Amino acid sequence: MISIKVLEPFEFELCFELDSNTICLWTRKQWEDEFNKPGVKVFAILLRKEIIGINVVQIIIDEAQINYFSIKQKFRRKGYGSYLMSYLIKQCESLGIKRLLLEVSETNSIAEVFYIKFNFLTVRRRKNYYKDGSDAVLKEKKFIK
Ligand SMILES: CC(C)(COP(=O)(O)OP(=O)(O)OC[C@H]1O[C@@H](n2cnc3c(N)ncnc32)[C@H](O)[C@@H]1OP(=O)(O)O)[C@@H](O)C(=O)NCCC(=O)NCCS
Repeated sequence: MISIKVLEPFEFELCFELDSNTICLWTRKQWEDEFNKPGVKVFAILLRKEIIGINVVQIIIDEAQINYFSIKQKFRRKGYGSYLMSYLIKQCESLGIKRLLLEVSETNSIAEVFYIKFNFLTVRRRKNYYKDGSDAVLKEKKFIK
């Protein structure tokens, strides 16, 4: 059974654990700090009782930014990422969000296909943004009223 749970600040260790076993984006301290940023919400997707993916979104007035989005390796390509993204989009719609933003490396071709599926468009590039010299691509999904 699939469910979505809002994680609370005291649960930052669960996020660090999933991240350490998937894309290793943030340290334990960065996860702890992330929960304390204004407007941050953390959603976990669970299969039965296991957390299989996490999404961090930061809401600032009528804009939302995806700071983290990852599904555990062995659960990928089974529709769980889409389930979590669809949930996030519904949340944005109910909160009257006008645009949803994210940043992704130009080398992440899987994410590129994934975000196209949800009608994100490229709005800007940051040249040589990542350590390996690749560009960061800023993507946006607009919500039509
Ligand atoms: C991007 C990510 C979240 C997708 O999650 P997922 O659960 O595997 O995605 P889904 O199974 O819902 O797939 C949705 C669509 O994305 C695309 N997609 C997903 N994985 C893909 C792959 N390996 N190759 C090509 N397209 C892929 C397809 O269009 C797919 O639709 P389809 O299965 O009907 O063809 C997941 O690959 C992931 O966690 N990647 C590492 C973290 C990351 O890159 N995050 C985004 C950066 S901000």
